Amino acid sequence: MSDHLGFPPGFVLGAATASYQIEGAAREDGRGPSIWDTYSHTPGLVANGDTGDVACDHYHRYREDVALLRGLGVGSYRFSIAWPRIVPDGTGPVNQKGLDFYSRLVDELLAAGIEPAATLYHWDLPQALETPSEGGSAAGRGWRVRETAERFAEYTAVVAEHLGDRVPRWITLNEPWCSAFLGYSVGRHAPGAKEGRGALAAAHHLLVGHGLAVRALRAAGVREVGITLNLDRNLPATGSPADLAAVVRADTQHNLVWTEPLLAGRYPDTEEETWGELISGQDFRREGDLELISQPLDFLGVNYYRPVVVADAPYRESDPDRRVATDNRYQEVPLAGARRTAMGWPVAPATFTDLLVSLKERYGDALPPLHITENGSAEEDEVSPDGAVHDTDRVAYLRDHLGALRAAMDAGVDVRGYYVWSLLDNFEWAFGYDKRFGIVRVDYDTQRRTPKDSYHWYRSLIAAQRG
Ligand code: FCB
Repeated sequence: MSDHLGFPPGFVLGAATASYQIEGAAREDGRGPSIWDTYSHTPGLVANGDTGDVACDHYHRYREDVALLRGLGVGSYRFSIAWPRIVPDGTGPVNQKGLDFYSRLVDELLAAGIEPAATLYHWDLPQALETPSEGGSAAGRGWRVRETAERFAEYTAVVAEHLGDRVPRWITLNEPWCSAFLGYSVGRHAPGAKEGRGALAAAHHLLVGHGLAVRALRAAGVREVGITLNLDRNLPATGSPADLAAVVRADTQHNLVWTEPLLAGRYPDTEEETWGELISGQDFRREGDLELISQPLDFLGVNYYRPVVVADAPYRESDPDRRVATDNRYQEVPLAGARRTAMGWPVAPATFTDLLVSLKERYGDALPPLHITENGSAEEDEVSPDGAVHDTDRVAYLRDHLGALRAAMDAGVDVRGYYVWSLLDNFEWAFGYDKRFGIVRVDYDTQRRTPKDSYHWYRSLIAAQRG
């Protein structure tokens, strides 16, 4: 059984991972601590007390992992670079051994005929930029402060200088929504803060950091520059005015807060009804920021997993800062009739088509070509007596979402590539190792990799696409 979706020639089929989720070697070769080391080592924050200390040990096994990619036949591999390997203290001395690791990885990929796609920030902020280390020169306070955006640009320039000639595709930030809102208002991601204004400042400074990094990448002459957003397809639970208003708030906080400045050079006109005086009274925006943020991009990366059904929710706390926390403004309700993945996420591929088409409708020619930089599902995988993993639900998920992507392209959306999340089972943030998204199983006791049925399915799809 091989599916052939007939993507246009040159369409990229790839796979994705991220540094903290797979690398391990957390204290090796001069890597400094990141906010995710601190967060995962704080008791009670990550399921089972899991940490990324060892993860998939990819730092030592990257050759084996590139061989898996080569076997799969992917055209491109999306990985992320750990900032604390490159600039361990967030600012100041550069760690050559960190650069050397990514240089070896990139060379290995190129030798395998795979295009590297590098993400500069997939959430592992050097800890010193959040809380200053003793004797260090970083000021701390993370993305709440503009200095962090400036440090990000310095780090980007260093990486681009060393890898820019060999890495054709660059992604500044991965899912800044998670960094800003899960990190600084919901507290479910590092650094685990529960603030309102702090999260809105973080969102803005992430965008400023993106803009400064775009400049640094352009100065280095790299081929393609983009950013990856997790955009939501928000559906109202009912047609009531309250639920429809909740969808506006959800769209603003998840989507428009990013796409309006990036693609239209303006702030969302629904931000006051979403955040009230927390946004109107802010002082972190500066003149010129929108021009910086809205520099032309070669592509927009979109990560998509599931739709969100939104219902109105009353404030549950009097603290106005809590207004920014998603769970205090609206709630997600189950989508009737949909299968749920191991994450509890509803499976509804047609909403993927709708999201992409709606982006095109909203931004028209201002929408750059898209890359789907993540899509995949966590399932309750079982190892069969024959040693195989027959993950039929994941195969169906991938097939249906690729079909939905194809439908969006047929409707006129310019999509250039698709990266499955993820090559490997890995450290799924607050869920630890419990949730498995890989098309390759990782046995965390032995570090043995076993390609699942989904790997074999994806390989035939790629082969059929290549003709
Ligand atoms: C995205 C993240 C990625 C992974 C998937 C499941 O939000 O970018 O690292 O955790 O979800």
